[in-house]
Amino acid sequence: MRIDIITVLPELLKSPFEASILKRAIDAKLVEVHFHNLRDYTTDNYKSVDDYQFGGGAGMVMMIEPIDKCITALKEQRGYDEIIYMTPDGERLSQSIANQISLKKNIIILCGHYKGVDQRVRDTFITREISIGDYVLSGGELGAAVLCDAIIRLIPGVLGNETSALTDSFQDNLLAPPIYTRPREYKGMKVPEVLFSGNFPKIEKWREEQAFQRTKERRPDLIKDNEQQN
Ligand code: ADE
Repeated sequence: MRIDIITVLPELLKSPFEASILKRAIDAKLVEVHFHNLRDYTTDNYKSVDDYQFGGGAGMVMMIEPIDKCITALKEQRGYDEIIYMTPDGERLSQSIANQISLKKNIIILCGHYKGVDQRVRDTFITREISIGDYVLSGGELGAAVLCDAIIRLIPGVLGNETSALTDSFQDNLLAPPIYTRPREYKGMKVPEVLFSGNFPKIEKWREEQAFQRTKERRPDLIKDNEQQN
């Protein structure tokens, strides 16, 4: 998979890709991530990427020309399956969206800034608009980092244990069950006995019950979603 990220602040984005699982995935060539500074596609001396809103109103708007130049240059090199715009008015990111995007070959992610981009960018180039939640960030970069993390960990080979992404919370619309490691007892707090039973069907059943219980308590909306799907 190849991800091209278009941003006015590449320095804000780089560090999540320089550590841990994302770095390992890049080093192992399971994913390529490229950053494109929108200012490199400007034509004036000030390297302007934004301008005042037509019709008045507070806040600047990202202009279409540098974005067009950057996206067009990328599209001349290869085809893209998805050109995603990070924006608070996009569809809310979910595990199911992350799963879908992780199957793509080449994607572009455009990070918005200021009030956002000229509507004509959205109408012309963008195939999907994604929000990471109902709150407003200062720009799309942190959203893009969240989206990339969610999709890259799903690429086969990225996680050491092939099955572990499948047992994450949300993969079956349930939260993950409680987990424990050594020591077996700490300051009087004991690990549930069933986990030492060696009876794997029983352990699996316990985990399912716990996951269901936890979801019912914390996220009853997910159980409603399950019922609607079935
Ligand atoms: N840009 C600003 N706020 C955002 C959000 N909530 N999600 C994605 N991109 C954004």
